[in-house]
Amino acid sequence: MTIRDGDGTGTDGVDWDAAAASFDEEPDHGLRDPEVRAAWAERLRDWLPERAGDVLDLGCGTGSLALLAAGQGHRVTGVDRSPAMVALAREKLAGRDAVFLVGDAAAPPVGEERYDTVLVRHVLWTLPEPDRALRHWRDLLRPGGRLVLVEGVWGTVSPVGIPAGRLTALLAPLGGRVRVQPLSGDRTLWGRDVDDERYAVVAVPD
Ligand SMILES: C[S@@+](CC[C@H](N)C(=O)[O-])C[C@H]1O[C@@H](n2cnc3c(N)ncnc32)[C@H](O)[C@@H]1O
Repeated sequence: MTIRDGDGTGTDGVDWDAAAASFDEEPDHGLRDPEVRAAWAERLRDWLPERAGDVLDLGCGTGSLALLAAGQGHRVTGVDRSPAMVALAREKLAGRDAVFLVGDAAAPPVGEERYDTVLVRHVLWTLPEPDRALRHWRDLLRPGGRLVLVEGVWGTVSPVGIPAGRLTALLAPLGGRVRVQPLSGDRTLWGRDVDDERYAVVAVPD
């Protein structure tokens, strides 16, 4: 698959610029339903550090999780390959302590900045070298910082995604503590029942 730089086509081959306008229509994307939004806010409060800090949201999309993190007092930097997604995220977080950049999640354009949390939802599985991306994200953390990775395996006929077992194996070389939280059983997060594998990993590398 060809990866084109500087446009909204992800490494998954999806034209995310074209998808941006309707992206928030899915309950777990736009978090428009107060019950769904509250469920994600509660999870995020558990996954993010108690003390407000700097969160790097990679593949941030329209900024729905970034908005929740900002609402909990964190300063957010969002990075997405799709300029259309970034434009929507900027709009959604206007007036908040947040900046959004167009760039590759695997090599975010953040220079020497370091973060308390690198947050990535539904993006890692699309990256061609997830092990390399994880190492790079670890290097973007301040001492004691954490990776919050929300991933899954979607579909039954031709499933796509990354199983929790594979992700934890990829994290093993980074050492430290890894907590896996299954999310499939909580229908409020998705706005419906789901029976595929969905989970979050909170990793505090050495
Ligand atoms: C399924 S959406 C998830 C958006 C957001 N993380 C969320 O959970 O609402 C995938 C997002 O990742 C972005 N993306 C895909 N590949 C990327 C890459 N290599 N670098 C940066 N963003 C990427 C897409 O543009 C899209 O906004």
